[in-house]
Amino acid sequence: MHQVTPLDTFYGRNHGPIPHIDAALWRLRVDGLVDRPLELSMEDLQGRFRERTVVATLQCAGNRRAELMRFRDIPGQVPWGPGAVSTARWSGASLADVLAEAGLQAEAAHVAFIGTDVSQGAEPPQPFGGSIPAAKATSSEVLLAWAMNDQALPAAHGAPLRVVVPGWIGARSVKWVQRITVQTVPSENYFQTEYSVLPAEAEPEQTEATDGITLGPIAIHCTIVRPGEGARLHPGATEITGFAFAGDDRTVARVDVSPDGGSSWVHADLDAPENPWTWQHWRITLALPAGATELLARAWDSTAAVQPESLATVWNPRGYSNNSWARVRVTCSH
Ligand code: MTE
Repeated sequence: MHQVTPLDTFYGRNHGPIPHIDAALWRLRVDGLVDRPLELSMEDLQGRFRERTVVATLQCAGNRRAELMRFRDIPGQVPWGPGAVSTARWSGASLADVLAEAGLQAEAAHVAFIGTDVSQGAEPPQPFGGSIPAAKATSSEVLLAWAMNDQALPAAHGAPLRVVVPGWIGARSVKWVQRITVQTVPSENYFQTEYSVLPAEAEPEQTEATDGITLGPIAIHCTIVRPGEGARLHPGATEITGFAFAGDDRTVARVDVSPDGGSSWVHADLDAPENPWTWQHWRITLALPAGATELLARAWDSTAAVQPESLATVWNPRGYSNNSWARVRVTCSH
């Protein structure tokens, strides 16, 4: 797998139809608790702000929900496998620079984004939105991106402009952003609280916004890329590869791999982090026994937090944040 995901294989997640926007007519509004509200065209953004580039992994909070669904059903949600994660080289203006031009007022605590797409799945139907705390919004890695892998941002990924919040769940990286509002409270958009982890016993339809843990920074996770699930192999030395992603501003410190369902563990060879916001690839060659076996991988982050072992620990009614150990079943025969 490449360090950066090619555009044609980058995952996509949309809660409404993809809007096709005339970039020449489009304007970004910046308002709320600012000294100077702004209305910016793409020309303003590209001409008045320094272009910055950040390589960052985007991961959907629903990544690996399918495994949770096999453990216990989650009706009405997309059964994502482990592929709702990709990495791009994003370029655009730093959100911090735009907010500095607007002038944040002392009470500014949250920065809310609103997209252009209207989601009929929201209650009531509304444009997709969400927010991040002002401290994250003024960190230099958060971008208003107009380019992806050195090409113009594709419509499907948010053209003409999207937010990129490195280290946070994909839902906070609002696409087709048209308005940025600085406020004292988090966004009241439907999707701000939809992306939260409810207690296992909660009924999603009968919960209050405060019942869940609203998702922001991503927790340590890893994926086995090769061999794939159900692979038929020869016994003996086999290369196992994958990636791990620490989330927030942490890095991956270690990845352990087990060739025998957890009886023994070996440390994989792990790439150094490019920056805290990008996945780190790992690899190891292990002798696999004849017969059916389960390969396991678990990553540790720079705070020494490790992935939880079981789906039972992390299962939640909307199926978010499954960061349990990576598992791949293979069969080896001559
Ligand atoms: N922004 C808007 N406007 N509408 C959306 O539906 N989906 C969010 C986020 N931003 C979404 C959005 C979710 S849930 C994810 S995981 C990422 O965009 C996916 O970004 P991608 O489609 O570029 O991979």
